[in-house]
Amino acid sequence: MANKFYITTPLYYVNAQPHIGHSYTNIAADTLAREMRNILGKDNVWFLTGTDEHGQKIQRQAENEGAIPQDFTDKMVLTFKDLWKDLNISYNDFIRTTEERHIKIVQQALEILYKKGEIYENKYEGWYCTPCETFWTETQITDKLCPDCKRPLEKISETNYFFKLSKYQDWLVGYIKNHADFIKPAFRRQEVLSFLELNKLTDLCISRPKERLSWGIPLPFSAEHVTYVWFDALVNYISAVGTFDAQGNYNSRWWPADLHLIGKDILRQHAIYWPIILRALNIELPKTIFAHGWWLVGENKMSKSRGNVVSPKDLVDKYGLDVYRYFLLRDVPFGMDGNFSEEAIVKRFNGDLANDLGNLVFRTLVMIEKYFQGNIPDVEISKIELNTQAKNIREKIKALPGEVNLYLTAGSDFNFSLGLEKIWQLINLSNKYIEDTRPWNLDKEKKTEELKVFIRLLAEVIREIAETISVFMPKTAESIKEQIGQDKIKKGNPLFPRIDLTPKT
Ligand code: ME8
Ligand code: MG
Repeated sequence: MANKFYITTPLYYVNAQPHIGHSYTNIAADTLAREMRNILGKDNVWFLTGTDEHGQKIQRQAENEGAIPQDFTDKMVLTFKDLWKDLNISYNDFIRTTEERHIKIVQQALEILYKKGEIYENKYEGWYCTPCETFWTETQITDKLCPDCKRPLEKISETNYFFKLSKYQDWLVGYIKNHADFIKPAFRRQEVLSFLELNKLTDLCISRPKERLSWGIPLPFSAEHVTYVWFDALVNYISAVGTFDAQGNYNSRWWPADLHLIGKDILRQHAIYWPIILRALNIELPKTIFAHGWWLVGENKMSKSRGNVVSPKDLVDKYGLDVYRYFLLRDVPFGMDGNFSEEAIVKRFNGDLANDLGNLVFRTLVMIEKYFQGNIPDVEISKIELNTQAKNIREKIKALPGEVNLYLTAGSDFNFSLGLEKIWQLINLSNKYIEDTRPWNLDKEKKTEELKVFIRLLAEVIREIAETISVFMPKTAESIKEQIGQDKIKKGNPLFPRIDLTPKT
């Protein structure tokens, strides 16, 4: 395994407040960053997130609000930072595309490509989708509607700068075929390959005339143009962590990224534009680009432009932070689409969290109080002959961290859901162990030694559960560790008091 881990999220547009979809990517990235910090040490993990602040969408939204774009983005970026704080997102760096450090690297990259002849000037005629910031040719469209989002297109004719995407098509296909983990999940990789087989790439228009759009990074070789927002934004992954030397070689402690985590909506930009930009700059490619699915409301993607968004903050206030994190990571296998509903959250809450985890912790603590005055019995489980059920639990405790970690790798498609399921198998086995053992009888019959072993094993289960859930639910893990203590417990309130679904009368 490599000795460092660099993970990124998309840079979110700041034209509106973040919603569940954005929080999903950042919670997933946070969980992986925490896991990798446990494995590699915290100094060897770099977790980058940030905001995408240029382009037409943002210029227009600023205008709508009667603000200049910089003031507008300065205000909006706070709503993202506040949310990441509320969601306990442990990022190492937050990059804004309006920062000097970023602008400088984008301009250097453009300069290098221009000098190499990878960028050329040309007259452009065609159709433009403002919400998607994408150009379409006559042959690609019907009814003057965007093939992606079905919204009306604008006719455009202007001089622009183009990046030679097309000449790298064969190279890219070969690269994707030779690197199984480059695009994940595998069905997304297949989608990209099919797309590249069916379509001839056209060169990418990387400029916008200032008269149409002024809110962007100035092109270093044309006073009349700013940089296309996607070229600008993608470069963040290198601008945040490295520099070009005088020869145009890129140097970084962290590059290549180990994982670009994105939603499937922006796979094409990441799996086609970005690798080709890097290749043309003679920079190594990221190890893995993983595209997760969408949270839907009914049939539709949850999105700010559709106006069907749910606020993460409201859900966290209502159900608790870790319930929210647990729900997102557990309810839908990573990579698939999921239907969002509050009923589903309540179901997970009352089942997995209140009934299974909460109950295991609470009843164990109650027993420790009742039978041992709050002291965890000091027995060395490994030296004792256990019954089959207890032996099985002890083996599961030992295997658990390795098993969960395996699910949190590219090879397993970062299957958070199955990782959590593994943990819950141990929780459920332990709850069954309590019922089967009938500790109240052991107590009555004064079988103190057996009772000690039983309680000790449960305490060890709970400690291991707290350890393994800590990357998914950091606060809950802390609270469990505090309650179970070292030798003496500190029982608090139940972790997840059941939500009563019967209407109040
Ligand atoms: O595309 N379900 O920004 P964006 C799941 N600025 N994830 C969702 C989601 C949903 N319904 N909606 C959004 C951009 N996301 C560009 C990116 S990167 C260099 C530039 C998440 O604000 C998901 O990660 O539209 C998706 O890819 C991202 O937000 C898009 O955020
Ligand atoms: Mg979007």
